[in-house]
Amino acid sequence: MSRGKFIALEGGEGAGKSTQARLLADALRQRGQACVITREPGGTAGAEAIRGLLLGTEGEGWHPRAEALLFAAARSDHVERLIIPALERGEWVICDRFVDSSRAYQGGGSGLSDAEVLDLHRIGSGGLLPDLTLLIEVSPAVVAQRLALRDGDQADRIGGRDADYHAAVASAFRRFAAEAPARFARIDGDGAADAVHSAVMAALAALLP
Ligand code: TYD
Repeated sequence: MSRGKFIALEGGEGAGKSTQARLLADALRQRGQACVITREPGGTAGAEAIRGLLLGTEGEGWHPRAEALLFAAARSDHVERLIIPALERGEWVICDRFVDSSRAYQGGGSGLSDAEVLDLHRIGSGGLLPDLTLLIEVSPAVVAQRLALRDGDQADRIGGRDADYHAAVASAFRRFAAEAPARFARIDGDGAADAVHSAVMAALAALLP
């Protein structure tokens, strides 16, 4: 049995990652490919508990380094207990956010160095990287519209950070994709979900069963 493929979806808030994860999983299952859809932070009971600690809006929140450690701890549990076993069973894993979110948010947004974030990932998760990372990019005006519909004034602790923070996150994602073009596909996320899905399938063509 060959190992499954590990696909991550990345991008800012309201990029449509979870919709695209669902459409991709449906398309894979139609081709007879078993897959699991999962998300970060979360995906296992322990990591979902850490998600609550990270995104809840009560209290004063976390120092950026503590926040980075919690994301890395959640990811470690998720990788060990869900992602690697599924890949070893030959399933594809479609993950809504992975380590590039830590690099972009805790690094680009909150100021940890990329080397520090990657060190935490090496310790927690053996440095596991997706076979392909789909970076879904949406223009700021479209994001603002989608988030107003989705969150109203109920953004989570990280989603609710200011526009400068989210601009730094978006520019970090662009930088990572430019630095590692073999590992990233940049997808224009402004259009309708089915058009974006076609672009996702085209980007995955070389990997598809
Ligand atoms: P979520 O609601 O899952 O994301 P989205 O808004 O894209 O639907 O919330 C996850 C939040 O956590 C989001 O603001 C990004 C942030 N995050 C990090 O800061 N670092 C990370 O490593 C991950 C996985 C997420």
